[in-house]
Order: sequence, then structure tokens, then C-alpha cells
Amino acid sequence: MKYDFDRVINRWKTNCEKYDTITQIGYPEDMIPLWVADMDFTLPDCIKKAMHEAVDRGIFGYSLAGDDFYTAVENWFSRRYGWKTDRSWIIHTPGVVTALSAAVRTVTEPGDGVLIQSPVYHQFFNVINRNGRTVVENELHYEDGKYSIDFADFEEKIAKNGIKLFIMCSPHNPVCRVWTPEELKEMGRICKKYNVVVFADEIYCDFFSPGYTHTPFATVCPEMLEHLIVSTSPSKGFNIAGLQISNIFIPGEELRAKFRKTIDIVGYNECNYMGMVACCAAYTEGEQWLEECKAYIWENVQYIQKFVAEKLPQIHIIEPQGTYLLWMDCSGLGLSPEQLEDLLLHKANIWPDMGTKFGEKTGQFIRLALACPRSVIVEAMDRLEKAVNEYK
Ligand SMILES: Cc1ncc(COP(=O)(O)O)c(C=O)c1O
Repeated sequence: MKYDFDRVINRWKTNCEKYDTITQIGYPEDMIPLWVADMDFTLPDCIKKAMHEAVDRGIFGYSLAGDDFYTAVENWFSRRYGWKTDRSWIIHTPGVVTALSAAVRTVTEPGDGVLIQSPVYHQFFNVINRNGRTVVENELHYEDGKYSIDFADFEEKIAKNGIKLFIMCSPHNPVCRVWTPEELKEMGRICKKYNVVVFADEIYCDFFSPGYTHTPFATVCPEMLEHLIVSTSPSKGFNIAGLQISNIFIPGEELRAKFRKTIDIVGYNECNYMGMVACCAAYTEGEQWLEECKAYIWENVQYIQKFVAEKLPQIHIIEPQGTYLLWMDCSGLGLSPEQLEDLLLHKANIWPDMGTKFGEKTGQFIRLALACPRSVIVEAMDRLEKAVNEYK
């Protein structure tokens, strides 16, 4: 490997949400944060160099996304995922959550139902509720330790609730599914039938495990192009969430104009200059770093899988097909959600996201974010084993 992902970088007191909140909340300083999907790795030199050059120029006035930026973005998706996009489709938002909220306001009216597939990224619930819409859940089917889509329920929920907007998570956070082309097509077929706009949140597209690949929804459901919003961002692949740049693709002219109006209402019209610089460098020169990063994280996954199989067989790890998360079914420990939280946060001093964050029925699940040095993972697993064995 060219890059050193083993290096532990001290992020304390850098206004870093992942670490600095530990003591703000009152947790002990040796707490291991594995909750937020935020990497503890430093950026590749190509991105840092581009940002340094921008700093050296020293002018940060009103800025435009230029030809080099759009070319980098278009090439990234066509080269890696066979998705031919057009730069005119892109609308910038600071984050994907901003785009989710704007989509809810653009496509639906107060009181309308919005369909999601729970358990799912908690902000999906928030953007619906906070905009005065109603969450409609097509719960993912969990059987024999695996997740699948209940298509009959999917269609019924759409038909019965007059759904106008479906928010899809692909790959899926937190259940780590990479949807197959067939599953994507079936969701697309049903949405087309009922005239539902699909918001495909593909923020995790750059993370899939060996043996899997990301299929952009747009490539298998071209008939949905007029009714599609796709969110992407270099923020997950390259850990630049703090630079606030997301590329939202809306191929349909009418839908795009409506979405832009929603964004215009809040007065957001130009993206973060440093975000553009970093995104352009990442998509132009950052591929090798990303591939090495994924390989490293995959070794973290394998370490945990082996550890859990040998020492904590009561815990079931859902097959991690995509994202850099691990979704673990801890029901075999026989603990209530409150006890599980107590065990992790107060005995093991490990801070994962608790399953309750993603849905009502996953109180005995936890989600770990694995983009950190191996030594952190090793320590976290040792602590988990000890705490489980000692927990009364
Ligand atoms: C599925 C999904 N969408 C969106 C986001 C957040 O996007 P942003 O930080 O760009 O608002 C996350 C963050 O973890 C996520 O998991």
C-alpha cells in the first residue's frame, strides 16, 4: 500500500464532531467513537496539494464551478459506474441532507406521506417530520440474518398512501445492502406505475465490498429519468463532509427547475469554493487512495468478522455489501436496548450508533463505522469481549 492508514492521528480539540463531542456529552476521554460515518484518515496528497494551491492564491470570492470541475464529476461516474451524466443536471447543495429536505418540499405538500425503507439513516425520518410530512415505512424484511425488500408491501404502501416521493438509500445505510439491478428495476417499475418521484441517495456509491459493485439507479431505470433526483457527494468517499459540497443530479428539466426554486427560496446559490477544489482533485487524482482506503477498511471488516465468530458468536454481523459501516444484530446477547447501550457506552467505552436511531424495531442492533486505524478496531473488539463477558 502506498498510503498509511494505520497512522493514528490525534483529532482531539480540532472541532471534530466525532471526538470533541465525547467530553462535551460527558463521556470519558478514552471512549472509542465508532458512531458517525467519518474517517480518521488524512486526505491523499493530491487533494491537499490542490487546496494548498488555492490557499496560496489567497482569494476566496464568489466562485463558479468550472469546466475542470464538471469534467471531473462526469468522468467519475461514467468511468467507475458506467453512468453517463450531463453537467446541466447538477445542482449543488452543501450536503445531501439539505437536498433531501429540498426534495421533500419540492415534491410533496404538508401532510403527504413520504416512503422510506426502514431501518434507515435517521435523517430520512427527520427531513420528513421536520417538514410536516408523514413517514411511511416499507420495512425491510429481515430473515435468517439477511435483509430484502418486501415488494408487495412497497407497492401497497405507495398505492394506499398516495405516495409522491420515495427516498431510496443505495447502498443502504445501515443494513449495508447493495441493491441488485433486479431489485432497483422492480422499485423503479412500481414507482413509474404510480408516478412516484425517486430520490436515490447514492452518497455511499464509492463503497462496496469485494464481489459487489454499485449500480446507479438511473442506469437500470432510464424510464424514471424525468422523475429522479440522485444525490452524490465526495464527502463519504474522501471524508470531506466539512467542505460542504454535494452534487445533486436531476435529469428532468421540469423537476430540476422546481427543485432549484426551492433552493433559491433559502438563498443558496453558490457552492463552497474549497469543496469544489477538493472534489475536483479527488475525482481526478484520488482514485488510487480511495481503492486503498476501501481495501484497508475491508481488512477491518474481516478482522471483526473473525473476532466475533471466534469470541462473540452470540452477535450476528449482517453481510457488509456496501458502505463502510457494520450492522450487527446483538439480540443473541439477550439484553434489552437499554442494557445494550449501557454495556457499550458505560462498560466497554465504545460509542457505536445504537439501532434505535434507525428504526423502532432495531433496538438490539448496533452500527459501527469502520474507517479508522486497525489498532482502534482491535482495542474496541477487546473491550467489547471483556464487557460482554463481565456484564451482569
Ligand atoms: C445515507 C446518507 N445520506 C446522507 C448522509 C449525510 O449527507 P450530508 O452530510 O452530505 O448531509 C449520510 C451521512 O452519513 C448518509 O448515511
